[in-house]
Amino acid sequence: MISEAAITLPRRLAAPEPGWTAETDVVIVGSGIAGLTAALHIARHSALRITLVTKDVLAAGSTPWAQGGIAAALGAGDSPEEHFTDTVVAGAGVCDDAAVRVLVREGPAAVRELAQIGARFDRAGDGSLSLTREGGHHRDRIAHAGGDATGAEIERALVTRVLDATDVEVIEHALVLDLLLSGGPPGSEGVAAGGQAGSVAGLTLHVMGEGARDGVGALRARAVVLATGGIGQVYASSTNPSVSTGDGIAAALRAGAVVRDLEFVQFHPTAFSFGARSRGQQPLVSEAVRGEGAFLVDDAGNRFMQGVHELADLAPRDVVAKAITRRMHEEGKPHMWLDARHLGAAFWEKRFPTILATARSHGVDPVTELIPVAPACHYASGGVATDLWGRSNVPGLYATGEVACSGVHGANRLASNSLLEGLVFS
Ligand code: SIN
Repeated sequence: MISEAAITLPRRLAAPEPGWTAETDVVIVGSGIAGLTAALHIARHSALRITLVTKDVLAAGSTPWAQGGIAAALGAGDSPEEHFTDTVVAGAGVCDDAAVRVLVREGPAAVRELAQIGARFDRAGDGSLSLTREGGHHRDRIAHAGGDATGAEIERALVTRVLDATDVEVIEHALVLDLLLSGGPPGSEGVAAGGQAGSVAGLTLHVMGEGARDGVGALRARAVVLATGGIGQVYASSTNPSVSTGDGIAAALRAGAVVRDLEFVQFHPTAFSFGARSRGQQPLVSEAVRGEGAFLVDDAGNRFMQGVHELADLAPRDVVAKAITRRMHEEGKPHMWLDARHLGAAFWEKRFPTILATARSHGVDPVTELIPVAPACHYASGGVATDLWGRSNVPGLYATGEVACSGVHGANRLASNSLLEGLVFS
């Protein structure tokens, strides 16, 4: 755990003084599954005025890029206890058990509720949710939508709901600068000052728009919910979109928030590789492809995951990412290969249309060719330290989703637990 007192941080970002001021009750920062769900729940359970601000447009961010799905013990014979065990095993003993219990127990109802509000999950012939498996899971428990477009479908359903909610004001193209604090130390001018946090009283932001709320302004509020997502763009290559720049964690730190587990940055084993020129956002090749039977091979065609772990190609992703990296170094290659040719054209088109189209657009046909893959930065397991209710140590400052560290992921997030965390804890 790193406390703000241990390091020297700027008190605030260099920015012009606010040219406008507005007031609300709760500001939510970010518009992925976590921010949108928080907005809908607060609207449903209170009469508070809610303002949701987002750096780009509502539907930008990491959630629409999520392919594989959302994990929950929904299948016959599965149980929250088994989901708990797989989560803490993947988390390498560093998970917070109480947080994991909340995740796995509330998960099934939360996913069903998401379906009720309009997310169209893929279904089996009998109408039940179609479930698949990913790395580290011992059961089929990953619900998916549009084959491999789960995040896009969830985002669509939630955005539709938020736009329909009359009590949620949305401000797009709004970059958060700093949190405002009341009761801060003298001279802080209401802006966070190193280590002596007051209560959150809103935030300053730069709106890139036109009209009354253009330029730098102050949005006063009783509470701020950070749902700003991850940090992938800190790394040379990542599966994260360009907006994942860690600004939520940085603003929280400047406000005196405690962060934890930041060292646990997860690398996805199979990002589509462009070789040595891989930079910025890399297309994801979902773990669900291996869940459906694809396997990794080296240049000579050897299945190198066999013997590394009892789950072989479906071992927890840290194990697979390390094995791929090791083999790349041993052979001096910029990537390894994923073999999914045996799935056949019809299956590819129905189950993984997004990945198929993306690979083909880059000149690789997974129906007849091996897919070049290499690990890329994927997920920040750590973040702003929160309790089971999303509260940080700074009164009035909440965090949820990837920016938060509720303790559910430990040292290594179990596949498809991230959308679930965003849903349950928001
Ligand atoms: C994937 O589809 O492989 C990614 C799922 C996740 O990150 O949980």
